[in-house]
Amino acid sequence: WPDGTHLAGQDLVIGGLPATQLAARFGTPCQVLDERTVRARAQAFRTALPRAEVVFAGKSLPCPEVYRWMAQEGLSLDVSSAGELALAKAAGFPARRIVMHGNVKTAEDLKAALEHGVSRIVVDSLDEIAQLGALATHGQEVMIRVTPGVDAHTHAKIATGVEDQKFGFSLASGAALEAILRVVEQPSLKLVGLHCHIGSQVRHVASYEEAVRRMVGLIASCSTRIEQLDLGGGFCAPYLLGDADFDLAGFAHRITGALNYECALHRVPPPRVLIEPGRSIVANAGVTLYRVCAVKASARTFVAVDGGMSDNPRPALYGAKYAVRLVGRGGKPKPVTVVGRHCEAGDVLAEDVPLPEDVHAGDLLAVPVTGAYHHALASNYNQVCRPPIIAVKDGVARPIVRRETEEDLLRRYL
Ligand code: LLP
Repeated sequence: WPDGTHLAGQDLVIGGLPATQLAARFGTPCQVLDERTVRARAQAFRTALPRAEVVFAGKSLPCPEVYRWMAQEGLSLDVSSAGELALAKAAGFPARRIVMHGNVKTAEDLKAALEHGVSRIVVDSLDEIAQLGALATHGQEVMIRVTPGVDAHTHAKIATGVEDQKFGFSLASGAALEAILRVVEQPSLKLVGLHCHIGSQVRHVASYEEAVRRMVGLIASCSTRIEQLDLGGGFCAPYLLGDADFDLAGFAHRITGALNYECALHRVPPPRVLIEPGRSIVANAGVTLYRVCAVKASARTFVAVDGGMSDNPRPALYGAKYAVRLVGRGGKPKPVTVVGRHCEAGDVLAEDVPLPEDVHAGDLLAVPVTGAYHHALASNYNQVCRPPIIAVKDGVARPIVRRETEEDLLRRYL
């Protein structure tokens, strides 16, 4: 739950507001986002690594207001497309603190980044280097995405540091060195750094340490001075009770140690470190509220809610697990399966979770840890309108993303 969340009777108080009140006022499904938790997590990264540039991975929660909070907390912003850049512009995010990095950028993405004057662009293919080289006019700062060949021990669909996936230039095959040469050859580009991102929902600090070792080895073998080393994001969030939080202090200590040691060993000046946390800043700040629409008793008890895979496809995509709590009253628990309203057997939000045995239509359910990659991955499947995001802080609630309406849906059809 977000920091400071507590029970008042059977009601859940988030950001100083009872969940029952929020649901009554803003309707369901709805995502509640605790501003203080987001800001505190952002600060925790800055404090743990005071000399690093902390770059919020904007894809984890694309929303101008959240980008504004990040700007105020002194973070930089990573955008992965012209669309995310448009949100950053709407937020008034300073261009000198924006990095663009999508693993495949279209000409429109690159043009938008150049026109806006983003500070750095991370390149991810030889085609992109050539295209950016032709489009850029004056010393655009560039980083190169490298695949360090490190196993992050995470779900295969979000593991990006190993060989045999589409991201980055392989270190092992020599492709990374070739990319460095290609960037250096382009007069309109200026190589400032190397980048790697080993995956998401990563628990093992040792995987980052290994990435540091390999990346510093690569820096040492370059004839060009590399001033920045971006270690990507991927720091895990605890989704279930008992899951460990990411060991941020241990991470800071160990990667700083590894960096200093390797740089001394290879006799290279230590580069400035960048990190790109997304999930670990926003996941825990979000709580999704759903209303129970129906209870279906068959081989097991299915509790069907008014949202589902259109606002949370993560269980279907990654087998992600969530906790669920009934808000507003208690009762003797029994295991149920919470499902969504979509026309798919895989539209399951949580399996075998304990809810009061008399759970019924009209009950309010709260699902925590829904701040990252929920709004971002939401769809209109079955032409279901996407939920709003309601920011809460010190007893004040305000929508920062409004609920989608049928007019919004119809606007696109010709
Ligand atoms: N940097 C780069 C280059 C990335 O590709 C990502 C995430 C991040 C930073 C931030 O990673 P984070 O700290 O949020 O783990 N949809 C998936 C997660 C995909 C992550 C994509 N890249 C999920 O819901 O688990």
